[in-house]
Amino acid sequence: MDAISVIRTKRDRGELSPEQIDWVIDAYTRGEVADEQMSSLAMAILLNGMNRTEIARWTAAMIASGERMDFSSLSRPTADKHSTGGVGDKITLPLAPLVAACGAAVPQLSGRGLGHTGGTLDKLESIPGWRALLSNEEMLHVLDTTGAVICAAGDGLAPADKKLYALRDVTGTVEAIPLIASSIMSKKIAEGTGSLVLDVKVGSGAFMKTIEDARELASTMVALGTDSGVRTVALLTDMSTPLGLTAGNALEVRESVEVLAGGGPADVVELTVALAREMLDAAGIKDADPAKALADGTAMDVWRRMIAAQGGDPDATLPVAREQHVLTAPASGVLTRLDAYAVGVAAWRLGAGRARKEDPVQAGAGIELHAKPGDTVTAGQPLLTLHTDTPEKFAYAQQSLDSAWDIAPAGTAHESTPIVLDRIA
Ligand code: URA
Repeated sequence: MDAISVIRTKRDRGELSPEQIDWVIDAYTRGEVADEQMSSLAMAILLNGMNRTEIARWTAAMIASGERMDFSSLSRPTADKHSTGGVGDKITLPLAPLVAACGAAVPQLSGRGLGHTGGTLDKLESIPGWRALLSNEEMLHVLDTTGAVICAAGDGLAPADKKLYALRDVTGTVEAIPLIASSIMSKKIAEGTGSLVLDVKVGSGAFMKTIEDARELASTMVALGTDSGVRTVALLTDMSTPLGLTAGNALEVRESVEVLAGGGPADVVELTVALAREMLDAAGIKDADPAKALADGTAMDVWRRMIAAQGGDPDATLPVAREQHVLTAPASGVLTRLDAYAVGVAAWRLGAGRARKEDPVQAGAGIELHAKPGDTVTAGQPLLTLHTDTPEKFAYAQQSLDSAWDIAPAGTAHESTPIVLDRIA
């Protein structure tokens, strides 16, 4: 077998054989297939696609490149959630302890932000002392004793994906549905969860800009999970405007704690409870009430234990950025649009995100929203507060917000977009 013949097959719109797929993934992981060859193959896949048989084999080969975790020693059923990424998407933070409080074990392997979308690990690292890197034994221990763990995936899990994802990131080949689906699902299946709920984001702040693309990605991933014995369900959810009222690391932790205390913005609470119901249902837990577990403090108890078990101080004061700058509403009326992508890019430019994997993030940087689409605003009232330790970035961040919102005359009817747009099982 050789790389060139595999590339030519896909370049000429052919179907890759199981032998070709197994060989190319294994040889790339070992360094026998060069980055430039894999990058050419990834581009051929982006342009010419893969059928479901090819995607399933590609996913299986990436799983086989590393270890598989095993949670069968736990007494509770396992349930995990994966979001395809968005702006202000802090849902994992209240969701994992909430689902654990309702009786499931939640092994939540999470990632860091890249580009305009935030990462769960960056958010949690704003809590003094909290550690994202755990050994497999530590992860199992936290999961067993608290019911939930949120940590980084170890190097042993789907190493082929780690290498390929880094390559796709710098070769313009991230946005291929077969490659996104196999990348996400190889890690989730190798992780060993019994059930999985996918939150597939749709809209300006998401990878998938249209509902059609989101549906295709969701149904591909649901089929991959189900065929591997993982009970998998996907919700398609709106990402045209940021979730909640904050985008940024410590800002989002603060908002998540408000949700766990029984408050917080209505959209964050609604999506957290909707995803919790799906996870509990997929895990076979029928009689739990997630809304009650948020209101009565049991989810907060699990959060505090989970944070402490990973070295964090749940009572510590969260970092605050050194400088703030308020943007005000230029006119009175109804806010009809506040664009997720523009807010995500601005938060990233303020220091909440990173341009390269190795860059540090600012814990306090980000954006606070003072109004959401559908709200009535008055000229001169605060609309957004920008937070950063590096005030020279205000102007650069503000450029991305130049046409981020629309304000219509008072009395204009505004039809709000539902949070959950569709469900695929
Ligand atoms: N997240 C992943 O893990 N992989 C992708 O390809 C895209 C998003």
